[in-house]
Amino acid sequence: MELKAKATFDGIDISEIRKMNALAGPDTINLGIGQLPNDLPPALAEQGGEAFAAGKTRYTPNPGMAELRELVARYHGEKCGKTISADQVVICNGAEGALWNILFTYLEAGDEVLIPEIAFTVYETITKMQGAVPRFYRDVASLDALITEKTKFVVINSPNNPTGQILPVEDIRTLARLAEERGFYLISDEIYSELYLDGEAPASPLTYTDRVIVVDGISKRAAATGLRIGWTVSPLAVTKPMVISNQYITSCASSVSQFAALRSLDGSSDGFVADVRADLTAKRDFAYEQLSSMEGIKVEKPLGAFYIFPDISAFGTSKEVALKILDRADLLTIPGLAFGTGGDRFIRISYAVDEADLRTAMERLKELFATWSDNES
Ligand SMILES: Cc1ncc(COP(=O)(O)O)c(C=O)c1O
Repeated sequence: MELKAKATFDGIDISEIRKMNALAGPDTINLGIGQLPNDLPPALAEQGGEAFAAGKTRYTPNPGMAELRELVARYHGEKCGKTISADQVVICNGAEGALWNILFTYLEAGDEVLIPEIAFTVYETITKMQGAVPRFYRDVASLDALITEKTKFVVINSPNNPTGQILPVEDIRTLARLAEERGFYLISDEIYSELYLDGEAPASPLTYTDRVIVVDGISKRAAATGLRIGWTVSPLAVTKPMVISNQYITSCASSVSQFAALRSLDGSSDGFVADVRADLTAKRDFAYEQLSSMEGIKVEKPLGAFYIFPDISAFGTSKEVALKILDRADLLTIPGLAFGTGGDRFIRISYAVDEADLRTAMERLKELFATWSDNES
């Protein structure tokens, strides 16, 4: 018998982001990556090294080290003005591992998950892999009409990948009310929540309702995508089955990475995050100003994360435009189609790159868009 992936994998492939990244040449300026270019905050690097040296290389408890769960509980509790216990936290393999854990544990075939029309595609893919049904909403105002008795989860992601937008607190309150009234749970992906650029931290629905599973982690805030530390925070009864899943999926997250992650939450990396915010704000302002001045481009100012998402539809589909930018300007950008069909008018540019590269990239884009038809291939 031929071995064939199970039916729920039909039509699922590696992401467009990965495919696009594979096309980058040795000199390509890569504006396609979803991570900070910074080295690890020194406190994390030291702590990780100490963990190796001290032989802290054994299994930890399935839901994660008690000390780390305590810090995570304290962090979200302070943020939301609630008492959260360490028992409500599961430490996973990155935020993506956390998303897998939630959807694997809770989705039955036929359940519906409401996902933003333009979003990180992992929500849609993992939902499909469970035999459940992803459905898409444009904005919070249009959400109500899409909720059915099969709606188990509504996903939000603020600050958003790829748009960099932050949900206003009124929307967060509306979502919390709808969750209570209509009986679904929110999945609040807060992985970029520390990377807000205009002074005000994004609101979390956990402040307003307990019908929420928060997803967060250190990948983005601590330039630590390779350490693979993420987590969920949820009501105790919701958490318990996910602890069981975590055991069978992975036993536990990496011990040394969990040790390092302690220093992301105990205050010793706050200076790092403040510096990153200042750096990203300057780069965001520069990229926004440059793109706004380019003929044919429409762009909204992003408020967080490190992406800007210009509308390039005057020049072609997102894939055509991203491929031409790669071919003619040696810049890697991500076609908006990678974030759903609603994204096809846009390309995603990560401005979390070296300042000189960002300047060169913007010069090349300006030149390319100004002479677009001359370059017709
Ligand atoms: C919105 C969003 N959620 C989750 C993740 C996954 O984060 P991690 O690397 O911690 O798995 C990413 C990574 O790009 C992301 O953009």
